[in-house]
Amino acid sequence: MSDIKIMILRVLSGLSAVVVVLCSLAACAPKPESVFKDEANQWFDGFEKAQAALKAEKNYEYNEKGSVAVSKPKVSAVDADSAISDYYDTLKNEFRLRASTEEDKLLISYKSYKASDDITGVEVIYSQVLGGETSSAVKTFNFDSKGLLQTDDVLQRLTMIIAKDMLLANEQYGSSIDKSKLNESRDYQLLFTESGISVIYDAGAIAPESSGELRVDVPYAKIRYALPESIKQNVPEDDSVRTVDITKKLVALTFDDGPNRKYTNEILDTLEAYDSVATFFEVGNVIPNAPEAMKRAAELGCEIGSHSYSHKNLKTASVDRIKEEIEKTDEKFEEVIGYKPTMLRPPYGAVDSDLRENCDKYLIGWSVDTEDWKYRDKDKVVASVKNEGDLDGDVILMHSLYESTSDAVKELVPWLIENGYQLVTVSELMKYRYETELETGKYYSGSWFDSNK
Ligand code: NI
Repeated sequence: MSDIKIMILRVLSGLSAVVVVLCSLAACAPKPESVFKDEANQWFDGFEKAQAALKAEKNYEYNEKGSVAVSKPKVSAVDADSAISDYYDTLKNEFRLRASTEEDKLLISYKSYKASDDITGVEVIYSQVLGGETSSAVKTFNFDSKGLLQTDDVLQRLTMIIAKDMLLANEQYGSSIDKSKLNESRDYQLLFTESGISVIYDAGAIAPESSGELRVDVPYAKIRYALPESIKQNVPEDDSVRTVDITKKLVALTFDDGPNRKYTNEILDTLEAYDSVATFFEVGNVIPNAPEAMKRAAELGCEIGSHSYSHKNLKTASVDRIKEEIEKTDEKFEEVIGYKPTMLRPPYGAVDSDLRENCDKYLIGWSVDTEDWKYRDKDKVVASVKNEGDLDGDVILMHSLYESTSDAVKELVPWLIENGYQLVTVSELMKYRYETELETGKYYSGSWFDSNK
């Protein structure tokens, strides 16, 4: 090798050493822009799988006074697109107004769901670091090819009723949820997904201890009849799920003083034939006469309540006697159906403060009295119901002791159904028609129904 060549090599290697030094100082180190972009992309990755329904448009704005990166869905429905764009812009503008350091960041992305061929749900999620504080939130949009979707009242009401039940039944949340807030809170959003409607409560809206959103997924099968047609056709009918159709008028038939081997069974035959249910208030010391009839009622989805042990007027009874009447009946219930009743219909509708204070059950009266026990005349019982007028929300009192009543039921059940009523249990009526969380110590009688109908 010539000296010249060696010299050139020395110069070259010297140059490269200089280049290495320069790189490590600044020029070749990752730029803050690309660090930010990598970080944003990593965060976006978490959403990619769920974005199958809609493609993303990404944009990165690095700035020494706060950076923004967004992944935004491409939406063809015009008003849905502008609603989503407006929301992104609002978030960005609010951030820009307050951001001041390189550490300040706003990332926005989304998940999208194909609820049916034409219905899409989009959940926009942002994560923000501002002045050292981190925050995040979710906002939902639902739309079809024509534009943004407003959940109609029926679907919204039904979804909320079921969501509340599911939340309260969920041990994970059960203890932290504030029941009164659950009923009042308007801080929730609905989202159509592939499998159901998600109800998303804002952080702290119903459970003070929860730091993030509280979410419950109501399967479409549970709200089938109220769904938009395009979703409904993908949801198989499920006979095992008893659904209350809140678009119908709701009425609760109730039968006291049983169980009766003959007439309870006849009434159940009619109910079963019309796929309907009722509520039976059974007398403790009568239960051994017809335990099978009581069990059958429970198996058919009917509700069974207590009617005291010996049909005692509990208004004139001592506190000890009240407790005894309730406890002895509870024992009979557990023997036959395996659980204690949650409701008590006081004999004669007689209620006083001793009973209110010493009864751990919901006190249930009625709003329509057929006086079937007095007339024992099928036609009079039928007429008393048919002439009542609007029966939506009514609790009708009858007794499972008479042939005339059983015959009247054979006529009334089909008549009610033909006239647009759905027969429900008392609990279902209170929940779906009145949206009432039953309380002990309160008597739900004629006057309560009059003022809440
Ligand atoms: Ni009675």
